Amino acid sequence: MIKIALPKGRIADETLEIFRKIFALDFQFEDRKLILDEGNFQFLMVRNQDIPTYVTEGAADIGIVGLDVLEEHKVDVVRLLDMRIGQCKVCVGIREQDVLDYTRPELKIATKMPNIARNYFSQKAIALKIIKLYGSIELAPLVGLADAIVDVVETGTTMKQNGLKVAETIMQSSAYLIANKNSFITKKAEILSLYHKIKTQINQK
Ligand code: PRP
Repeated sequence: MIKIALPKGRIADETLEIFRKIFALDFQFEDRKLILDEGNFQFLMVRNQDIPTYVTEGAADIGIVGLDVLEEHKVDVVRLLDMRIGQCKVCVGIREQDVLDYTRPELKIATKMPNIARNYFSQKAIALKIIKLYGSIELAPLVGLADAIVDVVETGTTMKQNGLKVAETIMQSSAYLIANKNSFITKKAEILSLYHKIKTQINQK
């Protein structure tokens, strides 16, 4: 049995579509159901940011998670494959009328990715105050909570609709297939077989 942690939200639909094609199954998660059993596989519906925890702890053998989340949490897992879905970038955003002012004594950055933000700005030797938020990050500079944000940009709509612009791009991200280190030893054949199926499926797109 292979336990697979799938991310709720944006990446979930594309991931499930890949698995449906691979297994020629029309499986569907019921509305609020979190576990789905399909033959030798058990799919777990997990919040994106929690996938590294499930996979590192071995509660899931493999998982699918954004590179941004992997970088933020410095996760000790096997990175198997860039699935080329869920493509986005992590950016520094500011109000349209502003410039990113590195001469300020301190820059206030609102983000749900404090490690990525800290790493990025520490290379620029600038004093930073991180305002940790859990969502609606774009609101922070609009109400004076922060000078800038570090956040995920996919279509750019959220920034645009809120009068923000990208000042700098920190990294590109997409969804990765990852495996628990121990599972990758004990269930290597099954995991590699799945890896090859996913890879073939992705290359057909
Ligand atoms: C993410 C991110 C941005 C938005 C970017 O938020 O934090 O707010 O998506 O997408 P866009 O460029 O396509 O507009 P999410 O929808 O995950 O919600 P959140 O407010 O809970 O972070």
